Amino acid sequence: MASTLRFNGRVVLVTGAGGGLGRAYALAFAERGASVVVNDLGGDFTGVGKGSLAADKVVEEIRRKGGKAVANYDSVEEGEKIVKTALDAFGRIDIVINNAGILRDRSFSRISDEDWDKIQRVHLRGSFLVTRAAWDHMKKQKFGRIIMTSSASGIYGNFGQANYCAAKLGLLGLSNCLAVEGKKNNIHCNTIAPTAGSRMTQSILPEDLVEALKPDYVAPLVLWLCHESCEENGGLFEVGAGWIGKLRWERSLGALVRQRTQPMTPEAVKANWTKICDFDNATKPKSIQESIGSIVEALNKINSGGEVSANPTSRATSATTSEFARAIGHKFPPLYSSYAELDTIMYALGVGASIKEPKDMKFIYEGSSDFSCLPTFGVILAQKSIMNGGLAEIPGLSINLAKILHGEQYLELHKPIPRAGKLRCEAIVADILDKGSGLVILVDVYTYSGEELICYNQFSIFVVGSGGSGGKRTSDKAKAAVAIPNRPPDAVLTDTTSLNQAALYRLSGDWNPLHIDPNFASLAGFDKPILHGLCTFGFSARHVLQQFADNDVSRFKAIKVRFAKPVYPGQTLQTEMWKEGNRIHFQTKVQETGGIVISNAYVDLVPASAISAKTPSEGAGLQSTLVFEEIGRRLQGIGEEVVKKVRAVFEWHITKGENTAAKWTIDLKTGSGKVYQGPAKGSADVTITLSDEDFMEVVLGKLDPQKAVFSGRLKARGNILLSQKLQMILKDYAKL
Ligand code: NAI
Repeated sequence: MASTLRFNGRVVLVTGAGGGLGRAYALAFAERGASVVVNDLGGDFTGVGKGSLAADKVVEEIRRKGGKAVANYDSVEEGEKIVKTALDAFGRIDIVINNAGILRDRSFSRISDEDWDKIQRVHLRGSFLVTRAAWDHMKKQKFGRIIMTSSASGIYGNFGQANYCAAKLGLLGLSNCLAVEGKKNNIHCNTIAPTAGSRMTQSILPEDLVEALKPDYVAPLVLWLCHESCEENGGLFEVGAGWIGKLRWERSLGALVRQRTQPMTPEAVKANWTKICDFDNATKPKSIQESIGSIVEALNKINSGGEVSANPTSRATSATTSEFARAIGHKFPPLYSSYAELDTIMYALGVGASIKEPKDMKFIYEGSSDFSCLPTFGVILAQKSIMNGGLAEIPGLSINLAKILHGEQYLELHKPIPRAGKLRCEAIVADILDKGSGLVILVDVYTYSGEELICYNQFSIFVVGSGGSGGKRTSDKAKAAVAIPNRPPDAVLTDTTSLNQAALYRLSGDWNPLHIDPNFASLAGFDKPILHGLCTFGFSARHVLQQFADNDVSRFKAIKVRFAKPVYPGQTLQTEMWKEGNRIHFQTKVQETGGIVISNAYVDLVPASAISAKTPSEGAGLQSTLVFEEIGRRLQGIGEEVVKKVRAVFEWHITKGENTAAKWTIDLKTGSGKVYQGPAKGSADVTITLSDEDFMEVVLGKLDPQKAVFSGRLKARGNILLSQKLQMILKDYAKL
């Protein structure tokens, strides 16, 4: 059996508790252990007169039954005094039931100023004053339960009650706001619209109904809503005769009646009227964010020249599995984008690359000999390809952009991303999952340079509140997140983001105002603008690359992350990393709060040894590439011996026409030596520049290196004498 709901230790204030509904509440609370302040002005039902009798009688009744109660005879217009009675008698205030009320019914044209004002003062202002007096006490103790008493007259309208209807629905507005403001301090505010026989309804309801509709059939709802275990907040309930129902707002799909280049006209409103008023597939917005989100969505649609279309929220809500089938496989229009070194540098700065870390120079200075684009730049163009209106145009689904969350991200590189270029992105809806609380749309994006695949992204986009139509929950197409190992991390790197981090990152192309505009952020339910999830992603990937791949972008193969929580610019990101073979598991925390913001993540690296053997993208088509790779292989056996004799690092710049087509390093200084593509990771002792063809001539013994220097075909910088030792490594290759 369910346990009895008790109120021991709780102090309840019921206004207008001298009779009718208020009395029933006071008795019920006292019977279940609460200490009760029985407030009643004791006047007549129009608000004339006053007296202590009504309140005293109820207090006496409670005490007779062994309960605790004190009386208060002030008008609710003196809210402070009533709350003071509670504090003086019982030392605290936990629950406020705003119940006191009067009637001054008149048809609208006969309502006097006094009839109007008196009703507003008792119902609306009275509830405001009593609640305000209790509010800070509730905030301090992080507990409060408040009831506002509305009426069916206010909700639906009733002849002869304009003053009362206005005040009663005003109370719902007050309650809605307090529910939002009180939530974080565990103060809940709900509204009831009761129907009960009382002196107030005596003149309206037939006598037998007044008898039958006992206030006792309303009180249990009020008690439940005020119990500490009740999570309900901001609700509106009709209650009477033992029946309780909850109300909510419903909004038609509506219609866009304006187009970008044309003025909005009343004729367009008229033409769309049936659609505007059609409640088929209506939505049930619950918050101002949802409400305004749809308006912002409409604005976006109009600005992007979108079709006149339905309210997206509900279309997604009512999407069926057959509609999913239509959406899966949908291809977005391909996106061609050019980017320059400026863009790759801006991105690197956006994800925290900095001159304070010398090894970051290669990402932020185009003059660096090994200037590279960070691998995670691969998400930038891909994201543009799906955000440029594409998401909202998936057939069978209509997505409210204000309701989407970036759930997870996977990125796989097939080539290092060029430092500048023109790429083409092709996106496709890979699958749709129904998680109940929302849909997950998997969008795969392939990025090409010409015909060459550069990278592949999978975006997992969560559409809040649009699931529940029985679709499948998992997909073999999904790139799964992986739990982190159960041991302390092998490495931890931190970076404090700047207050301008989001302002900087957005310049890479994610212009969502959520990341810069405080008003927009507060509409979305955040205290201030939040950092882009993909910015945190970029920071973390940089940490892994720095810690485990010496910032060598050619070793970055793939990354998977799950976005867990938002980050505010200025917070410190702490990436915890675990090495398991070539997979680096990681999670990212906000150092100040300890909260995990990226979870179940990993980076897959190309093993260092595979790099020199790999066909290098830059060196593709060069004859010298094969030679360097072969040198690398041969060194594996004799490296140590050669290193002892040479003790130098050679950096090669192989040219093709006017340009440097590839860089290679032959490190014969430490260990057993190594050969890898790219500039020397430390410093080179000598840097040699020559064309691919001349390199082959030298290797094949057809061109004497000394002569090549004099004729200007071979340029050497640094310790030129060391070039002589090159013979030692190159001489055998004539036989290749
Ligand atoms: P009621 O007239 O029996 O109780 C109202 C109580 O409030 C009275 O005891 C009265 O003395 C007290 N009161 C009036 N002005 C006051 C003031 N300025 N300060 C302190 N106390 C004051 O009426 P009933 O039916 O119990 O109504 C309770 C609440 O429920 C009212 O707010 C009413 O508008 C609301 N309501 C009642 C419905 C019903 O079917 N009984 C229908 C819809 C709403």
